[in-house]
Amino acid sequence: MTTTGAKPPGATDEASAALAVRQIFDSIAPRYDLLNHVLSANVDRLWWRRAARRFRGILSDPDAAILDICCGTGDMTMALLKHRPPGAQPILAADFSRAMLSRGAKKFAGRDPGAVPIEADALHLPLESASLDLVVSAFGLRNLANYEAGLSEFHRVLKPGGQLGILDFSEPGGLIGKAYAVYFRRVLPAIGRAICGQNGAYSYLPVSVGSFPPPEEMLALMRAVGYEQCAWQPYTFGIAGLYTATRSAVA
Ligand SMILES: C[S@@+](CC[C@H](N)C(=O)[O-])C[C@H]1O[C@@H](n2cnc3c(N)ncnc32)[C@H](O)[C@@H]1O
Repeated sequence: MTTTGAKPPGATDEASAALAVRQIFDSIAPRYDLLNHVLSANVDRLWWRRAARRFRGILSDPDAAILDICCGTGDMTMALLKHRPPGAQPILAADFSRAMLSRGAKKFAGRDPGAVPIEADALHLPLESASLDLVVSAFGLRNLANYEAGLSEFHRVLKPGGQLGILDFSEPGGLIGKAYAVYFRRVLPAIGRAICGQNGAYSYLPVSVGSFPPPEEMLALMRAVGYEQCAWQPYTFGIAGLYTATRSAVA
């Protein structure tokens, strides 16, 4: 596999890919939550909760510095917040689509513990090196114009010993994989089109999943970037899964 990052239709390089991805999410933002829940029959909620539970040790530390990158409309952040004690440092919730982020910001408003929305590019985070205890991304890495650059940037901002959690889709094998492929490539774009009234965005989703490296390749990439204890935990027959890794405790 030679794919280096997301390539929405029409994109010719990383800059045009990132722009196209941002435009897709800006345009579907008003319907994103509804579409997500319909298309996944609400299983997405279970995935966010399960991923958040995996990090409850770090989350329970009120001083832990946490980033949810590609937070979109904020549902992963909300799942993480459930494990934060009262008065804990707010979670940083970042995304480069203002339309997605502003919906997340409404969910975070007035909460304690809370989250701070930040409009930022995952490949150029406005954060100091070695400043975070946990970086989480749900269904975000697959949308980056360069997966390796994203993983490197997350590695840069993690403290030595800090942890990474990447929740994303995968393509299961066997009969389930075949049934799922039909759903993902034919049914899902049609429902997306019906709810969103547009073609491109939900045709891009199966394309982005198809070109995302399978778990063995993603784990190899994570190791090459410098992560340790890299692992993948399949969720729901491997339709999705959680990658976990640690930045070496030695600075
Ligand atoms: C599929 S949505 C996931 C949103 C949310 N995490 C969730 O689980 O519902 C992917 C998000 O990644 C964001 N994104 C993609 N590339 C990005 C980048 N380079 N920097 C920041 N955000 C990015 C998009 O704007 C979009 O909100």
